Amino acid sequence: MANEARAFSPERPEDRRFMAAAIRFAARHAGRTGTNPAVGTLIVRDDRDGRGPRIVGRGVTALGGRPHAEAGALAEAGDLARGATAYVTLEPCAHHGRTPPCAEALVAAGIARVVSAAADPDMRVDGKGHAMLIAGGVEVTPRVMAAEAARGIEGYLTRHRRGRPGITLKLALSRDGRIGIRGGGQVKITGPVSDSQTHLVRARHDAILVGAGTALEDDPRLDCRLPGMADRSPARIILDPNLRVSPEMTVAKTARNVSTMIATFETADPERRAALAAAGVSFIACVADPETGRVALPELLEDLAATGISSILVEGGAMIAESFLQADLVDRLILVTGPEAIGAAGIAAPIDVDAARRRYALLRQDVFGADAWYEFSCGAA
Ligand SMILES: NC(=O)c1ccc[n+]([C@@H]2O[C@H](COP(=O)([O-])OP(=O)(O)OC[C@H]3O[C@@H](n4cnc5c(N)ncnc54)[C@H](OP(=O)(O)O)[C@@H]3O)[C@@H](O)[C@H]2O)c1
Repeated sequence: MANEARAFSPERPEDRRFMAAAIRFAARHAGRTGTNPAVGTLIVRDDRDGRGPRIVGRGVTALGGRPHAEAGALAEAGDLARGATAYVTLEPCAHHGRTPPCAEALVAAGIARVVSAAADPDMRVDGKGHAMLIAGGVEVTPRVMAAEAARGIEGYLTRHRRGRPGITLKLALSRDGRIGIRGGGQVKITGPVSDSQTHLVRARHDAILVGAGTALEDDPRLDCRLPGMADRSPARIILDPNLRVSPEMTVAKTARNVSTMIATFETADPERRAALAAAGVSFIACVADPETGRVALPELLEDLAATGISSILVEGGAMIAESFLQADLVDRLILVTGPEAIGAAGIAAPIDVDAARRRYALLRQDVFGADAWYEFSCGAA
């Protein structure tokens, strides 16, 4: 460790500013890079001609995951990359896959210095990218804004470290801590600004997950409806062990447009299954938790991670939310409270803002119209 530290060069005053810009740039493709994390790269050069440092190349992991961000930024910079500094939000890769390693490409382009943020837990990288750069004569300054960069690729990091996708649980709560009314269909709890924020959060996740109760009660669309961002709708996962969802429901009718998976038991009615499959729905076979008889969540999440899903937004309802909380499977919790009360007939939320404050670290608090938006880090990642 001491030798490693000696090999690195110290942070410079401008580093945080450019790294913050690279992290913002990376967010453009969050949730759209397949199994790869959304990484950002900026190539910055200072010709000491009084103009100060300037960005000459920008790259973000391409849709689907390739090419990597470094390749795009180097292509844009061209010859201007020689002698420049590259700001990369994740340690550059060091392994030969379908393309040569990014660390090698940075050396070949004549980059003089690499400033990196998050460490890559992928065993094929994990320090080897930095070592390759140093061996190639490149100065390396690691871990600049590492925590901020890691937050943007939380799902990818969780999948590597824990073998399951990163989980965000989001619930809308009435003033009196209710999430809906049983038999009352979709109950409007929050206003348009929070709703747009929710759609933005959806776009940044690989998948949205709800329980059969919500699917049947609300017949939700579970897509991203922000103008111009419809193609950023994540996959939909419905936990429906007894296959209660029918082909007439919206999720099934739109399954050809947005990937829709039902997590169900092998014993589910084969005719119903065939009708849903004909509508374009796919299935994930689940096992039952021996204690509750419900879908065993750790096994399901492991299977979903194996399909390349890195981040899931769990949008309820109450039973599903409670199961994820009880199993300690929530990494990020979003609670949005609306101004109106629902009353005693409402479904009680499994957690409220006060309880969340006691258990978790508050990351963000905002006021959106008449609503309050709270985001907690649950520390599981
Ligand atoms: N305010 C909000 O943020 C929000 C969000 C979503 C929904 N809602 C509201 O919540 C209500 C629905 O909530 P809900 O509690 O009835 O339904 P739910 O949580 O959406 O679904 C529960 C069902 O999921 C299935 N399931 C499979 N595995 C499970 C597991 N490990 N743990 C728990 N359930 C599992 C079970 O189906 P089987 O019974 O077939 O086994 C269970 O009955 C609706 O009124 C809806 O409007 C509110």
